[in-house]
Amino acid sequence: MTVEQFLPQGYDVKASSGSVTWQSPSNIALVKYWGKYGEQMPKNPSVSFTLNNCHTVTTLNYEPVENPFAKTTFEIFLDGNPAPEFREKIEGFFTRIEQYLPFIKNYKFSIETSNSFPHSSGIASSASGMSALALCLMTIEKGLQPDMADDFFKKKASFLARLGSGSASRSIGGPLIVWGTHAEIEGSSQLYGTPYPFEIHEVFKEYQDTILLVDKGEKQVSSTVGHGLMKNHAYAEARFTQANDNLEALKGIFKTGDLDAFIELVESEALTLHAMMMTSQPYFILMKPNTLEIINKIWEYRAQSGSKVSFTLDAGANVHVLYPKSEKENVLAFIAGELSQYCKDQEFIEDFAGKGAVQL
Ligand code: DP6
Repeated sequence: MTVEQFLPQGYDVKASSGSVTWQSPSNIALVKYWGKYGEQMPKNPSVSFTLNNCHTVTTLNYEPVENPFAKTTFEIFLDGNPAPEFREKIEGFFTRIEQYLPFIKNYKFSIETSNSFPHSSGIASSASGMSALALCLMTIEKGLQPDMADDFFKKKASFLARLGSGSASRSIGGPLIVWGTHAEIEGSSQLYGTPYPFEIHEVFKEYQDTILLVDKGEKQVSSTVGHGLMKNHAYAEARFTQANDNLEALKGIFKTGDLDAFIELVESEALTLHAMMMTSQPYFILMKPNTLEIINKIWEYRAQSGSKVSFTLDAGANVHVLYPKSEKENVLAFIAGELSQYCKDQEFIEDFAGKGAVQL
């Protein structure tokens, strides 16, 4: 599909007031999106597990107005309290999506949002938050265009979510979503996320992700600044090629369930992401000493026990511990006994690969 196909042709039905609620999850990339251009286009394709427990619930209340506003008008609340800290980001989002959802200027919105994970956990809420808001807006648009096909609804929700935050495009469905065009992945698009279309081995079903909260503070580098670091980066082109190759290699891994190959690829992706940050100008180290303690403990445990536990990282110090469901009991005992000491307040969040957003 092209950008133009997301421009609506006028609505048949009269606007009314109402309220819509969506629950949308966070996701964890296995092949990382790092580097963008134009209007939120990724420099390389990425693939992620959609999470199940880490999610945002957003209610969008809407009320039509007599005369359309010059710009979209809204109030925003987090856990029932006014949240002015989100205003700028949401305002930018509305400006970007206006042409794709021209009805939004004819409404007054109130956005009520809450996250299942603590706001201060260091878990980014942009993927779950932006996808939840995009889905709410799409439900209103579907009300105005009742014959909208379900497939189009999902694609456009992902398209809009992407304009809010790139990784949000991968939070509509699950359990594995690809975003960004890849030559060998039919249907993959720069514009929206699509379900991973090939065979997935049983072992990846409800793959576990326990998130170790090493550092709960504000992000040291915003993702927009982070992506910007890939411009003029000495290793950028090699990195983008590597991401494409890794996505291709995952095809065989997902099919056969080769966990040794999975571990090698996923850990390398995580460390490459951080290597990119360490070698950019300006440079950053987003891992903390405890991030490295945890990584070393995971390697030790794997060598001693033959476990298939592995890790991946976001653009921060927290560690996502990945493992098959069959190892849940053992790995959770290992985490509680040996890894939680490296977490702030010993805190970690148990999660697994889920099915995507749901309307409540
Ligand atoms: C390291 O989606 O947060 O988590 O598009 O600027 O909102 P923006 O960036 P964002 O970047 C996520 C980067 C990452 C890797 C990934 O999720 O693929």
